[in-house]
Amino acid sequence: MNIKITSIISLTLGILLVASCSVPLLVPTENDASRAQIKWNDENLAALQHGHQLYINKCGKCHYLYRPNKLSDEQWQNKLDKMSLKAKLTIEEKELILRYLITMRDSYVQQEQAKK
Ligand code: HEC
Repeated sequence: MNIKITSIISLTLGILLVASCSVPLLVPTENDASRAQIKWNDENLAALQHGHQLYINKCGKCHYLYRPNKLSDEQWQNKLDKMSLKAKLTIEEKELILRYLITMRDSYVQQEQAKK
């Protein structure tokens, strides 16, 4: 009986732990694309989505994917200068990822505020 309860509890905790580690990254929407166009007038939704994919594929190999709201624009710029060498990015890929991160940061900030 006790063993059963213990295993149910640890199973539940295990599932919760896995679920909290795999919170999906926000996917760019039309709203994000319009916001991005204020900064870069050649930006569009397809480019943001491409940046999103590149971020997942190129930046999650050595560490977990940092949330866009972890760093400021300037900090992301500096980090990407360094990390693009580690991830062997082309100049275009680096720019796509940078724009994705800077654009999506606002969406994360809004999401966090909505929770409060
Ligand atoms: C080859 C492995 C590797 C790849 C690929 C890689 N990183 Fe890193 N990253 C590291 C290591 C190691 C550190 C910690 C030491 C450092 O800052 O150099 C780090 C640190 C960071 C930090 C700093 C976290 C902090 O708390 O200061 C950020 C942000 C980051 N990486 C983002 C990225 C992004 C964005 C990409 C994709 C372009 C990327 N990384 C790809 C190895 C990698």
